[in-house]
Amino acid sequence: MREWGMGGEVRSDVSAFRQKIVVRPGTSVLEASRKAGVAIRTRCGGKAACLMCKVYAKAGDGLSPVQDNERRKLAGLADEGMRLACQARVVGQAEIGLPEDPLRAAVRRQLARQAEDDLW
Ligand code: FES
Repeated sequence: MREWGMGGEVRSDVSAFRQKIVVRPGTSVLEASRKAGVAIRTRCGGKAACLMCKVYAKAGDGLSPVQDNERRKLAGLADEGMRLACQARVVGQAEIGLPEDPLRAAVRRQLARQAEDDLW
């Protein structure tokens, strides 16, 4: 466990490894993830423009409420627990998950389709 201060905490749960970190309340999930060494790629630098920093809140209510701008950007995904890491702030205990890398997901879907086609 790596500590940066008192207050809220965020737990990054990334496929093969689990890591619990403690951050100051108000820290963005993007910043917390970087401090944890979890890479979340972005293009806009945290301005809610690129939508590359999507994460999902797995458990706990330790994130700031979804604001109008974030809800608009995420469309219906906000109702499914998806958040923008650059907009969500840690205010308590939270468990964060990272969605599958889009390129990896596309390759996986293509391989699944090919495997289905090979059956016929
Ligand atoms: S960093 Fe670009 S939308 Fe969050």
